[in-house]
Amino acid sequence: MTDTSIITASDIVTAFGNNLVHDGVNLSINQGEIYALIGGSGSGKSTLLKEMIMLQEPQAGSITVLGHDLATITPHQASSLRQNWGVLFQGGALYTSLNVAENVAIKLHEYTDLPKRIIDDIVQMKINMVGLPARAAQLYPAQLSGGMIKRAALARALAMDPQLLFLDEPTSGLDPVGAADFDALISELRDLLNLTVVIVTHDLDSIWSIVNRLAMLGEKRVVAEGNINDILNNPHPVVSQFFGGNRGQLRRNNGK
Ligand SMILES: Nc1ncnc2c1ncn2[C@@H]1O[C@H](COP(=O)(O)OP(=O)(O)O)[C@@H](O)[C@H]1O
Ligand SMILES: [Mg+2]
Repeated sequence: MTDTSIITASDIVTAFGNNLVHDGVNLSINQGEIYALIGGSGSGKSTLLKEMIMLQEPQAGSITVLGHDLATITPHQASSLRQNWGVLFQGGALYTSLNVAENVAIKLHEYTDLPKRIIDDIVQMKINMVGLPARAAQLYPAQLSGGMIKRAALARALAMDPQLLFLDEPTSGLDPVGAADFDALISELRDLLNLTVVIVTHDLDSIWSIVNRLAMLGEKRVVAEGNINDILNNPHPVVSQFFGGNRGQLRRNNGK
């Protein structure tokens, strides 16, 4: 893992009407790491993620992704950036009228001229890569378990071989075993595919098991950034409040 930042946010200000959500957010994400955005509900984690993938624009400040300043990017550059990241939103958000294979193939049809035969092969490979059985390709979202939906959505996010993967609360709604399996999969795929992963989470298990560095949002900015020890050693009250609950306390006492 090298320390080359490939995503930066500088002095981000975001407001919805008179609801000021970010007031000077700064962070930088390095190539190859699993980087978490954590913080209380409503602290602006999802909004920040959406700004990184151009679904929303901040009122002030700048975001760079893979060397592009998102505020001044050309439509052509924006299109190639979009092909270079995969996104997994809460709930998976698969198209319910399409089967898994058709869901995974969407971007391949949209962005490439590959013949159907090749697309079918790529789709099968992605389905296999996320640990779904081959027969899952023909199933519809209503026929899948919660864990399978997440995996199918992940296969779709990885369809175009992106460098970046953005995940918003990916383990929410999964039982602890399913969540741990999914975390392990993310970590394996990061290693295998050389991904940089940005993950919004409040799952302490994920934070401890797979995250390399994190940013804690609070008071409209990043109150702490670094690896888990840096964060735990940060005296900011937002940090102690977040980790002060039983599970956090337990881990801390275990010396992990
Ligand atoms: N599209 C929107 N329009 C208006 N307010 C929004 C919108 N998206 C988010 N917000 C508000 O911004 C704040 C941060 O939301 P969000 O980024 O979803 O928080 P988090 O993901 O940390 O829980 C909340 O107060 C939320 O109501
Ligand atoms: Mg959110």
